[in-house]
Amino acid sequence: MSIFSWLFSSDMAIDLGTANTLVYVKGRGIVLSEPSVVAYHVKDGQKKVLAVGEDAKLMLGRTPGSIEAIRPMREGVIADFDVAEEMIKYFIRKAHRRTAFTPRPKIIVCVPHGATPVEKRAIRQSVLSAGAKRAGLIAEPIAAAIGSGMPITDPTGNMVVDIGGGTTEVAVLSLGDIVYARSVRVGGDRMDEAIVSYLRRQHNLLVGEATAERVKTSIGTARMPDDGRGQSMHIRGRDLLNGVPKETEISQAQVAEALAEPVQQICEAVMTALEATPPDLAADIVDRGVMLTGGGALLGQLDLALREQTGLAISVADESLNCVAIGTGKALEYEKQLRHVIDYES
Ligand SMILES: Nc1ncnc2c1ncn2[C@@H]1O[C@H](COP(=O)(O)OP(=O)(O)OP(=O)(O)O)[C@@H](O)[C@H]1O
Ligand SMILES: [Mg+2]
Repeated sequence: MSIFSWLFSSDMAIDLGTANTLVYVKGRGIVLSEPSVVAYHVKDGQKKVLAVGEDAKLMLGRTPGSIEAIRPMREGVIADFDVAEEMIKYFIRKAHRRTAFTPRPKIIVCVPHGATPVEKRAIRQSVLSAGAKRAGLIAEPIAAAIGSGMPITDPTGNMVVDIGGGTTEVAVLSLGDIVYARSVRVGGDRMDEAIVSYLRRQHNLLVGEATAERVKTSIGTARMPDDGRGQSMHIRGRDLLNGVPKETEISQAQVAEALAEPVQQICEAVMTALEATPPDLAADIVDRGVMLTGGGALLGQLDLALREQTGLAISVADESLNCVAIGTGKALEYEKQLRHVIDYES
């Protein structure tokens, strides 16, 4: 890279996730990772953005009537176009200190394998109107596989399972392309909802999604603890019987019970993918195992639960929360070699 382009180019790769958005700047790596949340004020029918990212997430579930805090991405695609565009603009500006000399950046964004042409166009449009000179798209499973260091261009079958906030994408890759991919609408959000509804049913306790997420990331587990109870933590919510705040204790065994259904759905998605994979590639996967990426891969004992149910060797990628952004960033850095995985057209 010339000194000129080092100083002035800021081509970027963006992982626009349901839960988190990450921005990778060419030559620098990941420079930003924040929740995909926007808080805005509605006045005279106009939305005025108040906070984006970390600051906005603190407001989720805690806003007065005049302010709304929302997540503009759902299941990996744009759910609220205007708000998503504001969010993308904000993150690009934050990552890219523009001067009068800075050329407009080229930006590569990853999209779920199952995104429709309309959804892809919406993402491309938002990036262009946020100031990009060109917008390329890359399939998320390919980015996840590159980011986790899998040899995706080899003529062997590789399976990657990306468990995000909104979806779990299971893909089989060979020779740099997708042989099979399936997306199920189960991910971290569904796990949080499962904890909320478990507490409501079993304890008459109403908790918000932020509390449920804290339970999941602190003591969450995909398997019954060996001693039948495991660790526990105190949580607060509202007693549904008398409406007053209440504190209670929740154990890992209870969390495992609450999460049984989403965990089972993830296992089934892996089994379905294996059954649909041509036999020689399936044999490669049996030899080489399965790579887990995304924040959901960090759920306690999920690798073990998957190994028990599928019989496959399971690894959790290093930096699993960053894999997709790193992979998208590598596609940008090694664009010449990885041309065929980036789509600038449709
Ligand atoms: N230690 C942990 N245990 C369990 N879940 C976790 C942990 N850390 C993060 N998560 C969950 O990971 C999810 C976010 O993962 P990630 O950033 O990969 O999603 P995303 O890319 O934004 O979503 P998607 O790919 O579906 O669009 C959240 O639901 C979060 O609660
Ligand atoms: Mg993701």
